[in-house]
Amino acid sequence: MNGLFAEPIQEIPLTEIADILDWVTEGKSKEVSLKLFDDVSMVYELQLAKMEFSRFSDDLRTFRQRTAYFEEVAGEKSWHFYLSAVEGKGQIGHSNQYLTHWFYPYKGKFHGQMVKALLNFMAVNEGSTVLDPFVGSGTTLVECATLNVPSIGIDINPALCLVAHIKHRALSIDFPEFRRTIHRLPLPKVFRQFTRQLENPKPLQLPPVPFESEEMVRAIWEQLFPDVAPDLHTEWRNILLLIFLHALSDFTYLEGTGKAKPLESFWQDNFASYLQTLEGIHRVREMLSMPIASARVLCGDALAMPLPDSSVDGIVTSPPYSIALDYVKNDEHLLTYLGLPTDALRRQMIGLKGHGKQRLLMYDHDMRQSLSEMSRVLKPLGWAAIVLGDVVVGDQRTDFCQRLLQWAPEFDFDQAITLRRPILGGYARLRFEYILLLRKGDSPK
Ligand SMILES: C[S@@+](CC[C@H](N)C(=O)[O-])C[C@H]1O[C@@H](n2cnc3c(N)ncnc32)[C@H](O)[C@@H]1O
Repeated sequence: MNGLFAEPIQEIPLTEIADILDWVTEGKSKEVSLKLFDDVSMVYELQLAKMEFSRFSDDLRTFRQRTAYFEEVAGEKSWHFYLSAVEGKGQIGHSNQYLTHWFYPYKGKFHGQMVKALLNFMAVNEGSTVLDPFVGSGTTLVECATLNVPSIGIDINPALCLVAHIKHRALSIDFPEFRRTIHRLPLPKVFRQFTRQLENPKPLQLPPVPFESEEMVRAIWEQLFPDVAPDLHTEWRNILLLIFLHALSDFTYLEGTGKAKPLESFWQDNFASYLQTLEGIHRVREMLSMPIASARVLCGDALAMPLPDSSVDGIVTSPPYSIALDYVKNDEHLLTYLGLPTDALRRQMIGLKGHGKQRLLMYDHDMRQSLSEMSRVLKPLGWAAIVLGDVVVGDQRTDFCQRLLQWAPEFDFDQAITLRRPILGGYARLRFEYILLLRKGDSPK
């Protein structure tokens, strides 16, 4: 044979050079058939895979139901294989945007797969309670629900509490009944009724924080949309509202770009895609006989949480990364549409308080207070997993991961693990985020 490959290439035994599966499972993969997802390749993912496996290596039946990073356990497909196959828009492999994670395009979401592995490392179960004090669009609540772990989410932004509430409740609707009813609804009329609030926004009156998301949901339907599909279950009406909010966000962000479309087209497209996802969730739940754990969503301040001392078993959260990102501006269309004042919210949000140099000092103060609150509500020996970006102000890294580590002993944390995750694309200013795991000691001061 002529040419470049005249000689047959010697097969290189790559597995002998670095048997990753062997490292992750500490040799167990030689005894039992295990397989990581093909797209698990980053160092932090392999570290998390090892950490979750270490907790369940003696109970592979449970591990198959819970794992985030393994595609197969003891020769059978894992539950995550099926759950992440319920695809959503913008999904990357098995890591994000599956199930209801993709409902509403919130800009600051973290990845469901990573959250699930952290919950596995904490070995929380149906008798535990997990807290996310900066719940945002509810990623932690959705992951807890599919692991059958009850959870509590807190956020200062009522609009995000609404999104988190709906994404969690949508996991357990009676889908066949929902679809039958929805197909009988005059959907163009529903769309027109929702657009009236755009043209003529009514302010939404909410009680002072803290309050439960159910109270807000009641207020929204009574004050803003009393005539929209009034005979439907509230959770079904909520899904219609979320589809509209999603369309509004797409419309706002894509206006003036090549992907711009009329609001009604976004509504129709999202409608079809939401139904597809909800049907997928229904199917996978039936197939796996998978329970969905309850979640409480509280609109409140992470700096003064309405929770008793030592009341939660684990925390998985991601606070505002910096003073550079304006979370209120990002969601202005949503807040304005729901008749919520943005100025008052700005004064309560971590990272947005104060001006100039003062703002960084206030961020520092608030991050310290939020760590103190997390420690207060965490049970002894409970873990807090805090995902935080590498904050850059001006040209300087402020390294709040290091700050949290320094403060941790003062707040009774006695063990720490840090993992580093590269940020590919997205915010060019942030190169890494850190997953900081802190364990509360068993004899708090
Ligand atoms: C990085 S985002 C969390 C995103 C979330 N992990 C998700 O997957 O959607 C940070 C959140 O902190 C919330 N926040 C800011 N200040 C707060 C405060 N004082 N109390 C509670 N939540 C606050 C913001 O509204 C925002 O939703």
